[in-house]
Amino acid sequence: MVKRDTQFVCQECGSATPRWQGRCTVCNAWNSLVEEATVSATQVQAFAQPTKAPVALNQITPQPERLLMTHMPEFDRLMGQGLVSGSVILLGGEPGIGKSTLSLQLASRLCQSNEASVLYVSGEESERQIYQRAQRLGVNSSTLFLFCEINIQTIVKVIREKQPQVVILDSIQVVFHPDMPSSAGSINQVRQCAWELINLAKELDIVVVLIGHITKDGGLAGPKVLEHMVDVILFFEGDRNQKYRLLRCFKNRYASTDEMGLFEMGKTGLTEVVQITDLFIDQDTLANPGSMVVPVLQGGRVMLIEVQALVVNSGYGMAKRTFTGVDTSRANLLIAAMEKAGKFRLSTKDIFLNIIGGLKIAEPAMDLGIVLAIMSSGMDRPLQTRMAVVGEVGLTGEVRSVPNIEKRLSDVDKMGFTHCILPHTNAVKSFKTNLQLIYVKTIREAIQAFLDISKTQKPQ
Ligand code: TYD
Ligand code: MG
Repeated sequence: MVKRDTQFVCQECGSATPRWQGRCTVCNAWNSLVEEATVSATQVQAFAQPTKAPVALNQITPQPERLLMTHMPEFDRLMGQGLVSGSVILLGGEPGIGKSTLSLQLASRLCQSNEASVLYVSGEESERQIYQRAQRLGVNSSTLFLFCEINIQTIVKVIREKQPQVVILDSIQVVFHPDMPSSAGSINQVRQCAWELINLAKELDIVVVLIGHITKDGGLAGPKVLEHMVDVILFFEGDRNQKYRLLRCFKNRYASTDEMGLFEMGKTGLTEVVQITDLFIDQDTLANPGSMVVPVLQGGRVMLIEVQALVVNSGYGMAKRTFTGVDTSRANLLIAAMEKAGKFRLSTKDIFLNIIGGLKIAEPAMDLGIVLAIMSSGMDRPLQTRMAVVGEVGLTGEVRSVPNIEKRLSDVDKMGFTHCILPHTNAVKSFKTNLQLIYVKTIREAIQAFLDISKTQKPQ
């Protein structure tokens, strides 16, 4: 019998099967199996790292970690205090969001402050392209080295020779290991190349930043496995057509993941945004039916965001639901709760939801805002006053408390709002505010409160 020398490897979880199938039996991902040549035993041996002997815990004398400050306050705050030597950072984001721009600016800041020498390895762009971008960003340094290469063995060799303190690889999906039989970007290649660089980072005590693309559904393209291998995972998000970009931390072995950084993309690259409270509300659309303002907590800071809903009669048998920036299953759940507990008939309505500014918000404190936005659009009832709303909604239509209410209310107040609907369990006693606070227990009460406010207020 002829021995098969290919197998089908799931690009999501890495499991292999001898035959193609539409769905991976291990992780249940659809259409994720790709035919790849099998790695022979001798090749596996070649990749094996030299083994070390075990060491008793009390015999270990650890080298102190070095901290490299990037002198980009938003980034340093996000990372805890700066880049930790020997760590590997994965920077993910959609194409065109600004990953290459951010990393080039980071590299430049590190070099300018003489904090570190940086090797910027690009497999996606030519030297001329990077030079042109650097010109545009005003980046110029004798300690920032460019290297356009996709062979990981050559890259490793150059890192060993040059001994930079920081290596940026743009991107992990385009590099390949010549001894691996599969093509660049496949799960085996990505895993192997990342593995080589992770080992090198630990051995040479350098920082490695891996840039990774993400898929349409928001996961890192192909290699979920990478997420376990790296020390820090950063995601760069936002709407490519708008100027604001959010840098979020999903995993950090050295600091908390609560922080986030906000940047603005301009003609000369990314600049940091410090005052963030009212960036994501549009004063012109606030008076339209379907707009609600919610104070959400992002990385320890309050941000007022505008949720917009559009509810129209459905032209087809099945109602359409399109949600941008909000979690789809959460939004469907809220619509179901409105049907059941709020006695709204929404099954015959098309519902569209959007958060302005291209933001994606997953905080449950936004639930009540979504409910009232849908109601406001469905009843064609605009909000005629400067009102904010906050609260989590449970399955039975009860409104649940949210953390850090005083911080949220204080920012709502500062931004010139006059009313706020909030959960009754969030009653604030000692907190002084000019806001008129309306406490609610259920979504029915919240809807009634909204109708009362919009009735008593004259249009502005
Ligand atoms: P880029 O860093 O190439 O994105 P990624 O590496 O994530 O694919 O950024 C691309 C976008 O950024 C591009 O569409 C134009 C915009 N941009 C600016 O608006 N100003 C600038 O100074 C630069 C360098 C890019
Ligand atoms: Mg790029």
